[in-house]
Amino acid sequence: MVPDFTTRLAETADAVEALLDSLLSPELRDGEIARPARLLAAMRHAVLGGGKRLRPALIVETSRLLGREDDGVLRAGAAVECLHGYSLVHDDLPAMDDDDLRRGRPTVHKAYDEATAILAGDALQTLAFDILADPATDPDPAIRADLVLHLARASGLGGMAGGQMLDLDAERVAPDEAGIRRLQAMKTGALIRFSCEAGAILGRADAGERAALRRFGEIIGLAFQLADDLLDVTATPEAVGKATAKDAARGKGTLVSLHGIDATRERLAQLVGEAEAVLQPFGSRAETLIEAARFVAMREN
Ligand code: IPE
Ligand code: IPE
Ligand code: MG
Ligand code: MG
Ligand code: MG
Repeated sequence: MVPDFTTRLAETADAVEALLDSLLSPELRDGEIARPARLLAAMRHAVLGGGKRLRPALIVETSRLLGREDDGVLRAGAAVECLHGYSLVHDDLPAMDDDDLRRGRPTVHKAYDEATAILAGDALQTLAFDILADPATDPDPAIRADLVLHLARASGLGGMAGGQMLDLDAERVAPDEAGIRRLQAMKTGALIRFSCEAGAILGRADAGERAALRRFGEIIGLAFQLADDLLDVTATPEAVGKATAKDAARGKGTLVSLHGIDATRERLAQLVGEAEAVLQPFGSRAETLIEAARFVAMREN
């Protein structure tokens, strides 16, 4: 019997946790001068002991669909988790969302201090690229360069960081529907789309397969942020490990505030259907990824 997505997600989460633990050990890497203990501890606080590890699981499952399953794939998963962890540390800062709780624990600037949190985010971001550029991730330098390029594009001006800028603007001037969709595609969608495309790159997908997996990533990226905005309205802090009812409190326009809870649930179901359709050419090999799409849309934390 094929294990279901949540079983696989748990396995990937354990493997990525162990890998991040070893990457963030006090042991110096070639070319490093020292690993300051306080910064290392803050980075460990940010990425260890929590998180669903959805993005690494998407890399693992897309790559597995193409027949590749090895430590290089897990390393790419650890890289995207470092980038994601950095984005959360900075997202929670007083200058941004000003949040005290993340993954059921104090945010990094609460557990340490703001300056340390900023530096922990910075160092996690560069660690992500360090991991991808290392030959242990893939023996082929062209593959490593492709991963680095696409993670950079997904994370920067035209991706996550740009989306965070638009998200802050949305607290002042409510965007229209197209504006909300664009900012969501950037702040959250880009990294999720990257995760699916990274699996395609690592698994040596042909152009058609890669385009389909990228599109799949785009669709579930939108679904992921829709679900996040829905949980902000419907869930408790205990369930999601972070404050809720924050978007309305900050006057932030989301698709939930625009269309309401029921319409958002309908849209999520529709997106799952679209994700399934895109994966149709892969036949039964896509079963786990289709389950992943359902997980993303129906998640409760
Ligand atoms: C939360 O991401 C932030 C968004 C991009 C909406 P996740 O819901 O994946 O957070 P963790 O990693 O599971 O804590
Ligand atoms: C965060 O979006 C997106 C990124 C970190 C890039 P939110 O601000 O909605 O995420 P939460 O709700 O704090 O997890
Ligand atoms: Mg935010
Ligand atoms: Mg936030
Ligand atoms: Mg949110």
